[in-house]
Amino acid sequence: MPRYAYVNGRYVAHGEAAVHIEDRGFQFADGVYEVVTVHAGKLVDEEGHLRRLDRSLRELQMPWPMSERALRLVMRQLIAKNGIGDGIVYLQITRGQAPRDFKYPKGVSPTLVMTTRFMNLDPVEQLNHGVKVITIPDIRWKRRDIKSVALLPQAMGKQKAAEAGAFEAWQVDDEGFITEGCSSNAWIVTDEGVLVTRHASNDILNGITRQSLIRLAESAGIPFEERAFSVAEAHAAREAFLSSATTYVTPITQIDEHKVGEGVPGALAGKLREAYLSYARSEGAS
Ligand SMILES: Cc1ncc(COP(=O)(O)O)c(C=O)c1O
Repeated sequence: MPRYAYVNGRYVAHGEAAVHIEDRGFQFADGVYEVVTVHAGKLVDEEGHLRRLDRSLRELQMPWPMSERALRLVMRQLIAKNGIGDGIVYLQITRGQAPRDFKYPKGVSPTLVMTTRFMNLDPVEQLNHGVKVITIPDIRWKRRDIKSVALLPQAMGKQKAAEAGAFEAWQVDDEGFITEGCSSNAWIVTDEGVLVTRHASNDILNGITRQSLIRLAESAGIPFEERAFSVAEAHAAREAFLSSATTYVTPITQIDEHKVGEGVPGALAGKLREAYLSYARSEGAS
């Protein structure tokens, strides 16, 4: 089956898809993106992802490349053209193509690129055994709430994680509190059974999966606190897990050299994953 990408109004062969060398995404990382999971052919948490996309664009004074309705349609057409059952839609919007100059150009159309990819949404090994994370200093800029394509610090963090045999790196602020993973939000369950994740601010990306999990935890009556937690608290946690569109809820069984709890995936993480999956299968997907 041929693989298509969508680039500025056209469906093109993935291998030939291209943007101009003076695209501001290429020269200044002047762009934003979203990753939306496709579960059994349906978009998961589409509404939340489009709301966050709108916010990222507004924060950077960038216009939508097309109407929201048209964008939803293109996502669906690309999923259908590429025969995606379980996988992702990646969409990136940049300020567009202009002669290299720092300040925002006038009268330029944004660039819209969309691709899809198959993905195993049920990685049995990771779910049965849990994953390892390491902690690293958070060296990013101060607007982490914007889902910008400027991801070099996260690429460096993921590389460090890979070299340490870990799945993810949890970034730590100057006060010793965990902000989030390089491509996921960070969660712990304290010894008292309280679910904790850092509060939304400019310090983290407010994950769409995170927001859905908070709603699900609250409706299940799970004790919950939205606050910063330290590396020491994470090392001593009863449970830990990470969340993102592509990993849903993934249990963590090792943080640095510390075993989390008994070293097996936690019960609450399992319960929240199940709750998210049934949400994704029902009203979360469209
Ligand atoms: C830095 C960061 N935090 C959190 C997340 C999780 O966000 P979401 O649940 O919307 O995928 C991501 C996802 O890519 C991310 O890059």
